[in-house]
Amino acid sequence: MTAPPPPPPLAMPDDDDDVPGLADSQAPIKKTPRTDPGSTDGLFPKRPSSSQSGSGTGGFDTVLGKRIVASGLVTEDELEQCRAELDGDSDDCDRTLSDLLIEHEFLTDRQLQRLRKEFDASKLSQKIPGYRIIKKLGSGAMATVMLAEQTSLRRMVAIKVLPRKFSEDHNFIERFHKEGHAAAKLNHPNIVQAYDVGQAGDHHFFIMEYVEGQTVYERIQRAKRIPEDEAINILIQSAKALQHAHMKGFVHRDIKPKNLMLTKSGQIKVADLGLARNLEDAKAAEEEKGRAYGTPFYISPEQIRGELTIGPPADIYGLGATAYHMVTGHVPFSGKNPSDVMRQHLKTDLRPPDQLNPALSSSFCQVIEMMLAKDRSDRYHTAADLLEDLECLRRGEELIFAKPKVDLGNLVVQVTPPQEQLEIRSKPKAAQGNTSPTMIASIILNVLLLILLVVVALG
Ligand SMILES: Nc1ncnc2c1ncn2[C@@H]1O[C@H](COP(=O)(O)OP(=O)(O)OP(=O)(O)O)[C@@H](O)[C@H]1O
Ligand SMILES: [Mg+2]
Repeated sequence: MTAPPPPPPLAMPDDDDDVPGLADSQAPIKKTPRTDPGSTDGLFPKRPSSSQSGSGTGGFDTVLGKRIVASGLVTEDELEQCRAELDGDSDDCDRTLSDLLIEHEFLTDRQLQRLRKEFDASKLSQKIPGYRIIKKLGSGAMATVMLAEQTSLRRMVAIKVLPRKFSEDHNFIERFHKEGHAAAKLNHPNIVQAYDVGQAGDHHFFIMEYVEGQTVYERIQRAKRIPEDEAINILIQSAKALQHAHMKGFVHRDIKPKNLMLTKSGQIKVADLGLARNLEDAKAAEEEKGRAYGTPFYISPEQIRGELTIGPPADIYGLGATAYHMVTGHVPFSGKNPSDVMRQHLKTDLRPPDQLNPALSSSFCQVIEMMLAKDRSDRYHTAADLLEDLECLRRGEELIFAKPKVDLGNLVVQVTPPQEQLEIRSKPKAAQGNTSPTMIASIILNVLLLILLVVVALG
């Protein structure tokens, strides 16, 4: 199956939290009466009166109050101040505790969105038949991931719950189900196994293999820089996964450290393969322009240009950017907003990885640079080619595809003899000093041999 044309995966709000070089605009937003397109408003009817606060918002305000105080985001006094205002404000029945917390800048819009998403996912997931929800595993730009037990098989699974806004886009939902079912047919030890896609109410979810461990992103955060050997091992496993997926007609389009899971035994599992991505993400990033809301650190130039045919080289670029991040501790290009980062993917020369980490071998740098070539025809064409070079790297052998960059400036210096040598060569032989001792010894030896031969011949 060939996946449909690529929507550039742009909105990645979690990414800019901790990636070096990016300022996160967490500043509270003043008076933001906004309707979050990703929110779960259907599940949270507006509060009819403050005395019902909590019940009128589907329980969100009650949970919200408890959560924000317990996590230290808001003090008891601040919460009380908002509640009191809510009680006194009988004119505006539409105002919620959330609105007031934002207005007073006690919470940022983004913090609120995350809390809503978590609340929604946990509430909804209690309703997925056949599964017992255990806990939240994490959340990204698109969704929240929960750990659950599939009761019939008594196995642990991870369930990715999409927000309600996705159900409004029929094309996306159709693709989500189609690709989800197709992905379930992919089977490889380095790919998170997709099990099924489903729907509960307005929400759609994706059920997959549960991977116990950490993401490569978390590994980078802990280690700052991943040692070369370990990085090569991660890349080999990821390239094997890509090779399998590409052969089956899948292109991931969102390879990044957060989508590479690392088990406790060091096995790599590529996540979200075959999971449809939404065009809305691009729109959302545009709308949030200037806020560094989502930043595409790992996106290929052809995806940025919105080209129609996105093939395996796009995943190789994403894996190259991941490799760069792993071994240097920095993403290849960072900037103040998504457009800035994307512009650099298109135009700015890559800073060689060994400039940031001089301990890296030159061969490994050549491989990373080839993976990150801006023009896809200069990149590894297939994951199989990449794999060959990675295996050479591991064995310490000469690379097959990546070659050292030819620096013309250096070449000129090499073919031009240094001044000193020029002077010596231009000196007349006599002026170059006496004949060397080796030469004298060789002449004496030859004469002695000649005498010996004559004596033997005469005798
Ligand atoms: N199969 C899984 N097993 C265990 N944990 C998982 C699994 N899939 C995802 N997670 C956890 O859930 C988190 C959120 O995953 P999700 O795919 O929603 O977002 P992301 O990949 O971090 O970012 P984005 O939304 O930008 O793709 C991951 O970072 C990971 O910690
Ligand atoms: Mg993911």
